[in-house]
Amino acid sequence: MTHSATGVIRKAVIPVAGFGTRMLPLTKALPKEMMPICNKPIIQYAVEEAAASGIEEVILITRADKSILESYFVPNPDLERFLEDRGREQELRLVRDLSSLVRISTVRQPSPRGLGDALRWARSAVGDETFAVILPDAVIDAHPPVLAQLMAAYHLHPGCWVATQPVEPADVSRFGMLEVTSVENASFPGRLFRVSSMIEKPRTGEAPSNYGVFGRYLLRPEIFDFLDSAQADAKGEIQLTDALAEYCQRAPLYALRFEGMHYDAGDRSGYLQVMLHFALKDAELGAAVHRLLATLGSN
Ligand code: G1P
Repeated sequence: MTHSATGVIRKAVIPVAGFGTRMLPLTKALPKEMMPICNKPIIQYAVEEAAASGIEEVILITRADKSILESYFVPNPDLERFLEDRGREQELRLVRDLSSLVRISTVRQPSPRGLGDALRWARSAVGDETFAVILPDAVIDAHPPVLAQLMAAYHLHPGCWVATQPVEPADVSRFGMLEVTSVENASFPGRLFRVSSMIEKPRTGEAPSNYGVFGRYLLRPEIFDFLDSAQADAKGEIQLTDALAEYCQRAPLYALRFEGMHYDAGDRSGYLQVMLHFALKDAELGAAVHRLLATLGSN
């Protein structure tokens, strides 16, 4: 039986070939996906979410000068021996766990021409099966992980899926925005929608609803044909949103209102907030951050 027939989603594509322009100058030399949130880089949150959702293989869509992202997940025997010799078991586990999370393969995108173009480069690595997409900027603290929430919904209604939440009117120009109708389902009351159209980053007042797309997708392999025929936008980029807008005219595209806290770690304010979110949850850091905030607040 094929993987498509069993409904198991084994592969996740994580596009990481962008220039991270919102975080310049820092991202001139350091990929934004390597920026730390507490002691882990942003990319690790995405890969851990994939692994915790049952994904077996992560396909990184990268570019030549971002090889540090691949190296991060490859075993480092010298470091492991160093830690082993000194009995540093805890650190050894942290380092070893990185290379055992999931199988990681990489595909190079020759030039950053948008999310839709990045995905096209994953076509042969994905093959003929439904796959997940994680945009690592969208860091989402959720239990179960958002990808696992989407997979549960996918098993009820096979099709393409996007993760959604309501967006403030002032923020619609930062998201792909959806036109939706409710789908009743006892397992996800009030949280499932059928998508009838989609528009990338509309102007305030021009969004078809207040539901935005939050960096998690389940895509059927037919999406590649829609990506191939999508027109480049004014910036010369191919948008996944445009391919999905065509797709949903011909086949079912659904949205799940996920449960969890989302942060846009790709901009300065979201990055600061996600850092605080995870620091406050950390057993060691939490108390120190609370003390600092109390001190700053009383000044
Ligand atoms: C991408 C997508 C957009 C989505 C957003 C947040 O935009 O194109 O539809 O809403 O991620 O996940 P980006 O923020 O990469 O420009």
